[in-house]
Amino acid sequence: MEVDGACLAEVGNKVMCVDVDPAKIELLNSGGVPIYEPGLTEMVRRNREAGRLLFTTDAKEGVNFGTIQFIAVGTPPDEDGSADLQYVLAVAESIAQHMTDFKIVVDKSTVPVGTGDKVAERIRQTLAKRGADLEFDVVSNPEFLKEGAAIGDFMKPDRIVVGTENPRSIEVMRELYAPFNRNHERLLFMDIRSAELTKYAANAMLATKISFMNELSNLAEILGADIEQVRIGIGSDPRIGFQFIYPGCGYGGSCFPKDVQALEKTALGVGYSPQLLTAVEAVNNRQKEVLFSKISQHFGGNVAGKTVALWGLAFKPNTDDMRAASSRTLMEALWEAGAKVRAFDPIAHEEAQRIYGDRDDLHICANADEALDGADVLAVVTEWIEFRSPDFADIRDKLKSPAIFDGRNLYDPQAVNRAGLAHYSIGRQPTQPN
Ligand SMILES: NC(=O)c1ccc[n+]([C@@H]2O[C@H](COP(=O)([O-])OP(=O)(O)OC[C@H]3O[C@@H](n4cnc5c(N)ncnc54)[C@H](O)[C@@H]3O)[C@@H](O)[C@H]2O)c1
Repeated sequence: MEVDGACLAEVGNKVMCVDVDPAKIELLNSGGVPIYEPGLTEMVRRNREAGRLLFTTDAKEGVNFGTIQFIAVGTPPDEDGSADLQYVLAVAESIAQHMTDFKIVVDKSTVPVGTGDKVAERIRQTLAKRGADLEFDVVSNPEFLKEGAAIGDFMKPDRIVVGTENPRSIEVMRELYAPFNRNHERLLFMDIRSAELTKYAANAMLATKISFMNELSNLAEILGADIEQVRIGIGSDPRIGFQFIYPGCGYGGSCFPKDVQALEKTALGVGYSPQLLTAVEAVNNRQKEVLFSKISQHFGGNVAGKTVALWGLAFKPNTDDMRAASSRTLMEALWEAGAKVRAFDPIAHEEAQRIYGDRDDLHICANADEALDGADVLAVVTEWIEFRSPDFADIRDKLKSPAIFDGRNLYDPQAVNRAGLAHYSIGRQPTQPN
């Protein structure tokens, strides 16, 4: 919400953001921003000071503020993995309770196909209860921004998908997005169901690429091949390309895991067995365990009493988001097996503290060096830029059992070995010091 609101205000719109969380609104109104996103704090401040960006907990005030009502609330997985629509439908209801004239209700949350109909139905029912005869249109406008690069993605989108066949809404949406559409046509109008499915299709495709490479990397290890050479070998084919084919210790975050799962549930709900999606998720869940098994094997199957230095807690660089992060799977497996963790992340340290609180087997460190103090081995889980070129000799001197578990294939195994450290990575043979 914060990114969309700030970017729409940045081009001159007046925007009011509504949230039910009073602490979040209070923070935003006092100049803070609840998430880490490069450039966001300054953008929010600039637009707040210009009077174009307002924050409130008052739904009525928000509904009366504008013709366009974006729904951008969470759609977390419910117990069976389907997208939980309660927050989306609660907003639809608030809009219908308070509206006094025509509204375009734009769904930006990632929602299953058919949600547009459910939102329209909830608005109709609520209006009927009020005895109010008011016009509205429901539009799907899925969000494609990437955390960590969200502002750039919003300001210069690859495409803007808008699901509506209503000529009035098409005109309003075209006008709203005109400032982001100057260089070439990026607006793609389609029917609402296709727009809803486009979002899931995009995330499922990206997740599939990652799981494909992870599957191949496990196979490469068994077959004695080097996945990094295979990656370059296939990426150079323009039909495949180099993007999103990095092997690693699994994908996480607030989108891929939940969206793949939700699409799978949508398919099952209409009697279709989505075999590929099920495999993409299963491969990823297994991949998140790979670092722990490598560490455990290194110690002959017993990590009890060991201390692991862990670099990178966020699910990817440039964010503090730890939802479904691979670091969590690793830490929790280590704790379960009786090991301790000394963790460092440039941004997500507070988030880790919030999630795990104080516990004896987790020490959150102030910098990467401190995480090495007293540790047996080092695991690198997130590819933050500051982890790319460390002083390997220094790492060797600090670790009791000098070995790096490189969950993102950041390092040249030979350079690590030359410094006197063992190197374990993804899809390659482990290599030992010369
Ligand atoms: N985070 C991303 O990078 C990203 C990218 C693309 C799409 N999306 C989609 O956007 C949606 C939002 O994601 P997020 O990460 O911002 O979620 P989030 O959980 O961080 O934030 C959701 C906010 O909605 C508020 N909320 C809940 N019910 C409300 C109500 N009735 N009225 C007003 N506010 C209410 C919550 O208090 C919370 O602050 C999801 O559907 C997600 O899949 C997110």
